[in-house]
Amino acid sequence: MLKILVATRNQHKLAEIREIFQIANLQLVAADEIAGLPEDVVEDAATFEGNALKKARELCQASGLLTMADDSGLEVDALGLAPGVCSARYAGEGCDHAANNAKLLRELEGVANRRARFRCVIALCAPDGREWTLDGSCEGTILHQPRGGGGFGYDPLFAPEGYPQSFAELDAAVKNSMSHRGIALRKAALQWAAIFKDYGV
Ligand code: IMP
Repeated sequence: MLKILVATRNQHKLAEIREIFQIANLQLVAADEIAGLPEDVVEDAATFEGNALKKARELCQASGLLTMADDSGLEVDALGLAPGVCSARYAGEGCDHAANNAKLLRELEGVANRRARFRCVIALCAPDGREWTLDGSCEGTILHQPRGGGGFGYDPLFAPEGYPQSFAELDAAVKNSMSHRGIALRKAALQWAAIFKDYGV
């Protein structure tokens, strides 16, 4: 069984990754399940790719395991692609999802162009120093008020293209079938199969 460390402490992301990325003979191990790993990696890169690589690299070095990381966020056209890489801390360091959503609604008050997309970069780092990245995105619009109780983050405010419902109103399986994370992880399962094969999967 090949163990891949998932470099996140975000339980919602972890649940989605576990749901989507199911490969025979490959076991996903969460950062919380291994003692002694760095608590948090400082996400100070200017791009999703830079932050995903940084998270995967640091925990790969600390654990000696093949390590995968997700860096993701929301880009809103009318806000010059903000919050982008700052999505988790849009309303300030340590803020919660409700505060981020409230700030997003304030910034978009009276703005007609609600076009936005979620982006996700998945990075994979091997203990021998090899590194790979893949991305996925999902277009949609920002609603005028939060809707639904599922998902996490900006899900209650994001309606994917072609759907009147928000991500938080849609079934998790429906979200995963079209989400930025679902797209990136399904690419990873296909394109990284040869890498996993090298490790005996
Ligand atoms: P990261 O941990 O720096 O990658 O932060 C990701 C942040 O982007 C999350 O805290 C959310 O605010 C937002 N985000 C990423 N993916 C999703 C999603 O699938 N739904 C809602 N918000 C998301």
